Parts: sequence; C-alpha cells; structure tokens
Amino acid sequence: MPLRTARKRRVQTDYDRTALFYEKRYLSIQWEKYSIMMENHLKGCILDLGCGTGLLSEYLHSRIVGIDISFKMLDQARTRERVVQGDMDFLPFRNEVFDAVVSFTSLQNLSDVNPALKEVRRVLKSGSPFIVTLLNKGSSVEKEIEKYFTIISIRQCGEDIGFICW
Ligand SMILES: C[S@@+](CC[C@H](N)C(=O)[O-])C[C@H]1O[C@@H](n2cnc3c(N)ncnc32)[C@H](O)[C@@H]1O
Repeated sequence: MPLRTARKRRVQTDYDRTALFYEKRYLSIQWEKYSIMMENHLKGCILDLGCGTGLLSEYLHSRIVGIDISFKMLDQARTRERVVQGDMDFLPFRNEVFDAVVSFTSLQNLSDVNPALKEVRRVLKSGSPFIVTLLNKGSSVEKEIEKYFTIISIRQCGEDIGFICW
C-alpha cells in the first residue's frame, strides 16, 4: 500500500538507514524494556506492532507475527518471526484475531496515535492484553490510550513510558 504522508515516508527511510546498526546500538536497551514490561507469559497468537528487526521474538523465544513499515528492518526480522510489511494505522488483519498485541518504542513515530490504537482495539480479542511503550515526549498519550483500553499499570521503562492495558 502506498504511504499516505511525507512523514511516514521519512520514518520508513530513516529506519531503512538505521537497520544495519540498530541492534548494535539498541539491543541491550530494548532487552531491558522487555524485562520491565513482559512479566507474564503471553499465550496464543501475538502481534508485535513496529517489530523492527524482531528482537522481541528472540527475547520471547517465540515466532510471533510482526508488522513494520521499514523493509530493511524486516529483512532482519524475517528470520525470527512471521513478518508483514505495512503501516500500523491500517492493519491488514481480521477483527479479533490476536491473543495479545505488543509494541515497543514505535508509536512515537506517529503524528496521531488514535488510528493505530483503534486498529489494535479492532484486531485484539476482547479481554486480551495490549502492552505498549513509547518514547516519553511528555504528551498526554495516556488519555488517548484510555479512549480504547483500560490501563492496568504504567511503568517507567528506560526512556520510554510503558502501559499494560486490557
Ligand atoms: C525504535 S524501533 C523499535 C523496534 C522494535 N519494536 C524493538 O523493540 O526493537 C521503531 C520501529 O517502528 C517502526 N514504525 C514506525 N512507524 C511505523 C508505522 N506507521 N507502521 C509500522 N511500523 C512503524 C519503524 O520502522 C521501526 O522499526
């Protein structure tokens, strides 16, 4: 699907450029975030939103489903998880198919988080967890998340702010 905004094309290009050195720079930082947020074992079909190079799949020892806008990040992720290239504002999945949706350090790339949150609500089975972190830019993302989910826990997660929701 063609990208609808210049901002998204820029994000895609930026991450395509970052892909080769992403893990060297961020592996241990992201790993630390996973350990803060992923205390319970997730079961069933899991979607990783903005999966990047697939580090979360490696952490979980599980072949989850990853979606990302950057082809180059996905080139690395495809050995670890089942990947789909796409935009998280328009998820190419049926309603209520996932048992959990997880997203680390990705939503801050969006100019408006509402379309992606609405899509997560649509594809997530009712009563299932949504675990999300994003770079803490001091904006009121909490209010946006609360439009679609019940927040169970808010955690400082390195540079990110993390939410565990239902
Ligand atoms: C900082 S990386 C985090 C990657 C991964 N979640 C991790 O823990 O290492 C942010 C990722 O979000 C992806 N991304 C940004 N905007 C996106 C969008 N609209 N749809 C899908 N992926 C997006 C980028 O391509 C990038 O791979």
